[in-house]
Amino acid sequence: PADMGDDLERVLLTEAQLGARLDELAEQIDADYAGKELLVVGVLKGAVMVMADLVRRLHSTVQMDWMAVSSYGSGTKSSGVVRILKDLDTDLTGRHVLIVEDIIDSGLTLSWLLANLRSRGPESVEIATMLRKPEAAKVDVDVRYVGFDIPNEFVVGYGLDYAEKYRNLPFVGTLAPHVYSH
Ligand code: PRP
Ligand code: MN
Ligand code: MG
Repeated sequence: PADMGDDLERVLLTEAQLGARLDELAEQIDADYAGKELLVVGVLKGAVMVMADLVRRLHSTVQMDWMAVSSYGSGTKSSGVVRILKDLDTDLTGRHVLIVEDIIDSGLTLSWLLANLRSRGPESVEIATMLRKPEAAKVDVDVRYVGFDIPNEFVVGYGLDYAEKYRNLPFVGTLAPHVYSH
C-alpha cells in the first residue's frame, strides 16, 4: 500500500527469504525433537507471524501457548525488568519448551524470560528467533535457532512494529528516518 511504501526505506528480507529460512529451521526442529512432545511458546505480539509460519511447517504434533510481557516502569525496556501481562496456561513441569521470538535486540527480554521459564521445572527450554541483532546485544543469550543476523537498524514488518504499526507487512523492511525522527 502507498501509505506504507512511503514509510519504508528498503526491503531487508523478502517473504520468500523468510519462508525458505523457516523451512530449514523447521527441519532442524523436527529432527531435534523427534519422539518428543514440544510446547511452542510465542511471545506476544511480535512473534505472531513467525509462530504461525513455523508451526505449520513442523511435521510433529506440537502444543502452542502464548505469553505477553512488558518492561517494567516508564516505558524503556533497557532495564531488563519484565512484567508478565499474560502468563502461560500450561504447566511447564517436565515439558520440552521452545520459545519463539520475532527478534532479539538487546537480549534483555529473552534472558529474563528464559530464567523465568526455567524456574518452572521444564525438561528443556530452547529459543527460536527469526531475527537477531548481534551489534545491539547487551546480554548473551544462548539461542538454538536463528533465522537471520541483521544489522543494527530500525526494522519493521513480519510482526515487528513501530508504534504498533507495520506488523502486518509480509516482509522485513527498514523504516525511513522521517517516520521516527521528530
Ligand atoms: C520486541 C520484540 C522482542 C523484544 C526484543 O517486543 O518483539 O520481544 O522487543 O527486545 P530486547 O531483545 O531488547 O529485549 P516489544 O517489547 O516491542 O513488544 P511487541 O512484541 O508487542 O512489539
Ligand atoms: Mn516482542
Ligand atoms: Mg514492539
